[in-house]
Amino acid sequence: MKLEERAKELEGARLATLNIAEDLDEARIEAEKAKGELEETNIKLERSNRELQDFTYIASHDLREPMRKISAFGQLLQESLKGKLDEDEEENFAFMIDGATRMQQMIDALLAYSRVTTQAKPAKRVDLNKAIEDIKSVELAVLLEETGGTIHVPEPLPAVPADPSQVHQLLQNLIGNGLKFHREGIAPEITVRSRRVNGNMVQVEVEDNGIGIEEANYEKIFGMFQRLHSREDYGGTGIGLAVCKKIVERHGGSIGVNSAPGKGSTFWFTMPTITNDELRITNENNKLGGVKNYK
Ligand SMILES: Nc1ncnc2c1ncn2[C@@H]1O[C@H](COP(=O)(O)OP(=O)(O)OP(=O)(O)O)[C@@H](O)[C@H]1O
Ligand SMILES: [Mg+2]
Repeated sequence: MKLEERAKELEGARLATLNIAEDLDEARIEAEKAKGELEETNIKLERSNRELQDFTYIASHDLREPMRKISAFGQLLQESLKGKLDEDEEENFAFMIDGATRMQQMIDALLAYSRVTTQAKPAKRVDLNKAIEDIKSVELAVLLEETGGTIHVPEPLPAVPADPSQVHQLLQNLIGNGLKFHREGIAPEITVRSRRVNGNMVQVEVEDNGIGIEEANYEKIFGMFQRLHSREDYGGTGIGLAVCKKIVERHGGSIGVNSAPGKGSTFWFTMPTITNDELRITNENNKLGGVKNYK
């Protein structure tokens, strides 16, 4: 009798185990299906991303030429019609030329934004001190002279594995903004510092003593064509920081700002620091020109 009960118990346990095994099997099939769907979505996303990038590149690249023509011939026409138009007509003409010139600048800006991905170069060791020295003496030399600005690097900065011309562009945009958005009558002073964060990342800070930014605008300014001032007060198209964000993110870092109106701003970005050996291996693994951990 006892033996029979025991046998029943065991049969019950066997059936329960079978049920569990069946459930597990079902769960495995579900998980595999979900994985497949996710992979498919990823492929679709990548494709649409690429299409969007291609579209931005082609649109901006091909719109450039006709836009240049409108702007250049418009200016010629404006010259030759000088004195022949009444005041209203001249004003309308000036609005038209101004619009064309602005559109041309925006198309150029869009192209620069799209080139961050379409013309990316393989990562190399980039010495940030050297990059700043180059920017000081070449790209920002005129702005430094005009504003009477100075750039301090109190402690030596590290080298990062990155696309050299993009790091150049990133620092140039951030330092250039620091020089441009200075307070009236106060010469801009820029300080660039760095520190290690989260083990293998470096955080670079570009601090200025300029007009500052309200907290409500901390995110907005990294969007395309987003500006907080009129073109009459400060020139520019509003693409600089959007390009910076795109550059930093494709190098696997992040970017942000801390600021107070009237007290200056500190723009910061992070980037991974890896050894030269790792850099060589990641470049060898990726013949297309990006670094493996790039986005
Ligand atoms: N260092 C700064 N101090 C104060 N405001 C800033 C600073 N940097 C950026 N901003 C604000 O953020 C906006 C966006 O900056 P961004 O560099 O994208 O554009 P821009 O400098 O106006 O034009 P572009 O960079 O295309 O020449 C600026 O118009 C300005 O209002
Ligand atoms: Mg700018």
